[in-house]
Amino acid sequence: MGLFLAGAAVSAIAAFLLFHLRHAKPLAEVSSVADRLARGEHDARAHLDPATPLGRLGMTINLLAERFQHDISELKRLEQVRHEFVSNASHELRTPLSSIKVFAETLSQPVAPAEHAEFVREIEENADRMARLVDDLLSLSALESGKQPPNFERVALTELIAKATATVKPLAAKKNVVLRVEAMGDVPDVRADKGLLRQVLLNLLDNAIKYSGDKGVVRVSAAPAETFVSVAVEDNGPGIPAEDIPRIFERFYRVDKARSREQGGTGLGLSIVKHIVESHGGAVTVHSEPGRGSTFRFTLPKA
Ligand SMILES: Nc1ncnc2c1ncn2[C@@H]1O[C@H](COP(=O)(O)OP(=O)(O)OP(=O)(O)O)[C@@H](O)[C@H]1O
Ligand SMILES: [Mg+2]
Repeated sequence: MGLFLAGAAVSAIAAFLLFHLRHAKPLAEVSSVADRLARGEHDARAHLDPATPLGRLGMTINLLAERFQHDISELKRLEQVRHEFVSNASHELRTPLSSIKVFAETLSQPVAPAEHAEFVREIEENADRMARLVDDLLSLSALESGKQPPNFERVALTELIAKATATVKPLAAKKNVVLRVEAMGDVPDVRADKGLLRQVLLNLLDNAIKYSGDKGVVRVSAAPAETFVSVAVEDNGPGIPAEDIPRIFERFYRVDKARSREQGGTGLGLSIVKHIVESHGGAVTVHSEPGRGSTFRFTLPKA
C-alpha cells in the first residue's frame, strides 16, 4: 500500500513536471510577452515552438506586435512630415509678411517720391508671393484630400501644349529664353483633367524658363508610347545635382534656396506636378546633367 502511494506520488510529480515543461513555461512566456507589449516594449517577442498550440499563439502575438510596431513608426513619420509642413509653410508665409510690415511702417513716415514708389512695388510683390503660396497650398491640400477627384475627359494634348506655351511666352521673352514646341504630328489625345494638366505644363515650363536664364532654350515635345503619351520639357539650364534629384519633388524642397526665393519660388511646383500626374495614373521622371540642362518627362494615359 505504502509502495503504491509512493508510486502514485512520483507519477503525480512527474505529470506535474511534464505539464510544467509542456504548458506552464510557454504559458508564462506568452503572458510575459503580452505584459511587456502592454507596457510599451514594442520589440518584445515570444520564442516558442510553433508546432505547439501555445507556440502558435506566441506567433500570432508576434505578428500583431510586428504590425503594431510598423503602424506606430508610420504614424510617427506622418507626424514628423506634418510638423515639418506646418513649420515650413509658416516660415514661407512669414518672410513676405515681415517685408510687407517693414515697408508699410516706412511708408507711414514721409519718404521721397522715388522711394515711395519702390516701397509700394515691394509691398505688391510680397503680397503676390503670399497669394501664390496660399494658392499652391490650397491646390496641394485639395489634391491630397482626394475630395476633388480629377474631372477626366478627352483632351487634345497638342492644343493644350500650344496654349500653355503661349501663356509663358511673356515670361520667356522677359528672361531672354527661346521657347520651342517640337512638331507633334500624330500625338493622340489623352485622358486627363484639363485644368490640372494645364497646371502641370505651366509648372514645368515655369521652372525650365526660370532656371535656364539668359539665352536659354526650352523645348516641349510629346510622343506616344504604348498605352501612354509621354511629354517632355527640356532646358539647357544649370541642371540639378544628382544628390538633389531624389528630393526635388518633396514639398518646399529647393536646390538653391536663395536663388529660388529670389525668383519667387516656394518649392511646391514639382510636388503639385507629381501629385497631378500620379492621380492620372502616370509617372514623372527627370534626367539632368549639371551644367548642361534638365529634362522633365511625364506620362498620361491615351484617351
Ligand atoms: N528645370 C530646372 N532646372 C534646374 N533646377 C530645377 C528645375 N526645375 C526645378 N529645379 C529645382 O528644383 C526645385 C524645386 O522645384 P519646384 O518647382 O518644386 O519649386 P520652385 O520652382 O523653387 O518654386 P515654385 O514652383 O513653388 O514657384 C527648385 O527650387 C530648383 O532648385
Ligand atoms: Mg517651380
